[in-house]
Amino acid sequence: MGGYTLIENASLANRNTLRVDARATLLAEVREASRLPELLDFPVVRGSRLLVLGEGSNMLFTGDFHGTVLAMATRGVQVEQDGDTARIAVAAGERWDDFVRWTLGQGFAGLENLILIPGTVGAAPIQNIGAYGTEVAEFIESVEAWDTRERRVAILDRAACAFAYRDSVFKREPGRFIVTAVRFALPRSRELRLDYAGIREELDRMGVAKPAPFHVAEAVVHLRTRKLPDPAVIGNAGSFFKNPMVDAATGEALKREHPELVAWVGGDGRWKLSAAWLIETSGFKGMREGDAGISNRHALVLVNHGHANGAQLWDFAQRVIEGVRARFGVTLDPEPVVI
Ligand code: EPU
Repeated sequence: MGGYTLIENASLANRNTLRVDARATLLAEVREASRLPELLDFPVVRGSRLLVLGEGSNMLFTGDFHGTVLAMATRGVQVEQDGDTARIAVAAGERWDDFVRWTLGQGFAGLENLILIPGTVGAAPIQNIGAYGTEVAEFIESVEAWDTRERRVAILDRAACAFAYRDSVFKREPGRFIVTAVRFALPRSRELRLDYAGIREELDRMGVAKPAPFHVAEAVVHLRTRKLPDPAVIGNAGSFFKNPMVDAATGEALKREHPELVAWVGGDGRWKLSAAWLIETSGFKGMREGDAGISNRHALVLVNHGHANGAQLWDFAQRVIEGVRARFGVTLDPEPVVI
């Protein structure tokens, strides 16, 4: 016995950073991944919908969840091999930001641009978290998961994870894999990524001429703290919208019509448009309807000013999507998982 706790009709209010007061038919807090098969075999769980939850920092509940929520609370960090490149296995329930700080303390490089991202290690590969010019995919060697379809442990190497911008096989086959651990390969040193807007300026301000990874991390902490609202202070799930990708012809036409358009041209010639710019220019930044709104700090962030429920937040998000479509003909996709 042990290894997990079951709660019926459980409140999820403290388990999602948008602070939506939704309930789950059953909540299973999992502390030992090896107990998953037994847990999933319980008659009450077997036929039910499953939802895997980390810290709930990338999720919007538009209503109650009729099914079983698996809250992954497994812990453990293991250095399997050290050298120029360290191989580190981390349990899904570890907090991402704690892990990043631990790697920096150990003198491993690579994750410095990804400091201060809310959420768990197990959630990081799902949407391939990325910030300030780095995506986590680059440092993931493999992901260990329970494959609910094949009913066995699966080890997915980087290719099998099919990572892309805010996307992976885990997002494309929702419900199939329960991530239990992530194996990272981290170098002792690397060429630092300083080109993303703001980093060099911040390092200058800090008076750092020869940055080490922990300096870059500190610069990113400053940038994020200034720009993004803290979920501990106001309910939010980080970027609520993805930066939309359009083909070159559409990008060029938009640029002709709106010379101030903020966009990046990718290696494949497609344009990634700044959703924040599209939203701000459409007039939604800082707008509020009841307790649902768009942050006045960053236009990508949907916020809960108090007691908005999931449906109200989702309605407001739809309004933003409609407004941007009416003005620019571009359709925004939500970034979090919408339940
Ligand atoms: N901008 C605006 N208005 C705003 C904010 C930004 O017009 O309110 C424009 C500015 O021109 C700015 C540009 O958008 O220069 C880019 O802004 P930012 O550097 O904040 O990046 P982003 O593309 O808006 C992405 C990620 C963030 C990540 C930052 C930094 C997505 C969906 N979001 O935002 O990720 O922190 O880059 O790398 O790709 C998250 O996923 O939750 C998240 C916060």
